[in-house]
Amino acid sequence: MTEKKIIAVVGATGAQGGGLVRAIAADPSGGFVARAITRDVGTDKAKALARLGAEVVAADVDDEASLRRAFEGAHGAYCVTFFWAHMSPEKEIAEAGAMARAAKAAGVRHAIWSTLDDTRQWVPLSDSRMPTLMGKYKVPHFDAKGEANHLFTDAGVPTTFLLTSFYWDNLIHFGMGPKKGPDGVLGLTLPMGEAKLPGIASEDIGGCAYGIFKDGTQHVGRTIGISGDQPTGAQMAAAMSRVLGREVRYHAITPDAYRAFGFPGAEDLGNMFQFYRDFERDFCASRDPAVARALNPSLQTFEQWLARNKDRIPLE
Ligand SMILES: NC(=O)c1ccc[n+]([C@@H]2O[C@H](COP(=O)([O-])OP(=O)(O)OC[C@H]3O[C@@H](n4cnc5c(N)ncnc54)[C@H](OP(=O)(O)O)[C@@H]3O)[C@@H](O)[C@H]2O)c1
Repeated sequence: MTEKKIIAVVGATGAQGGGLVRAIAADPSGGFVARAITRDVGTDKAKALARLGAEVVAADVDDEASLRRAFEGAHGAYCVTFFWAHMSPEKEIAEAGAMARAAKAAGVRHAIWSTLDDTRQWVPLSDSRMPTLMGKYKVPHFDAKGEANHLFTDAGVPTTFLLTSFYWDNLIHFGMGPKKGPDGVLGLTLPMGEAKLPGIASEDIGGCAYGIFKDGTQHVGRTIGISGDQPTGAQMAAAMSRVLGREVRYHAITPDAYRAFGFPGAEDLGNMFQFYRDFERDFCASRDPAVARALNPSLQTFEQWLARNKDRIPLE
């Protein structure tokens, strides 16, 4: 019997990594087995992954030696960082560097780096249409990931660069769901005007990553962008009205108004939405749902995701 190839998965108890572990477990004859990386192997989430057949090991992205041990003997590594846990682009870049060096040292044959666009290639710091944040970023949680791409190449790691997109799950967990207005009607507020918002069910990202690993090393050196669907704000609101059975109105506000909301990360997200809006064509073209569907045939559209998750969306 051929031995299964190990895919070491950073963030395995989270959205992206968890989706990948579950995609591997759902395909027992696929030739791969997941090694789930967590900081604490004793949690319920970690134990649930073990029950799916994953090997569960401890490592921390801030501890390079622990990553090296976790990647040892693995064919593949799924590398993701956790910007919102610390909101420091510099820390995110350092963590990407640690993963790249650990993957090289462990002899990983195929890494996937979960990245985003360095928006400064479209909006240089001198461009005043959106504020520069933290001294040298336009969209810090995007720019840091894009800036870190070269760390994988420089380290000599065979890498596929996976451009993810907006999680539909943000409507559940990130406070972006519809909110009741003074008139009692639910409103979806986004600074997107008429532009399309490429998005994806976070669970489907792992399925796409699994598709990339299954295809073999043909994707090494390539950048692959994924989304499940590309609805406008108005189309999202219309889909919610249909699926939730309650009217949801789209409120298009300005990016300035969004940035002024004042919650931690509001400026970063305001710039992000403005980037989506102002560079709609490039952003949508880089994340073709057909590409994602070829990698992951069970990819969900927005409305499919909504139908499955409607009871989880808080309606305030
Ligand atoms: N929200 C969106 O729309 C969106 C869209 C595209 C990209 N992203 C990006 O996605 C990234 C986050 O990925 P995710 O959503 O899959 O994360 P997540 O669901 O928040 O999961 C994070 C998991 O990573 C682990 N983790 C946290 N800090 C760690 C550390 N120092 N070392 C090792 N493991 C650690 C935690 O596991 P343990 O506690 O078990 O260790 C946790 O379960 C962010 O960088 C974000 O910018 C988000």
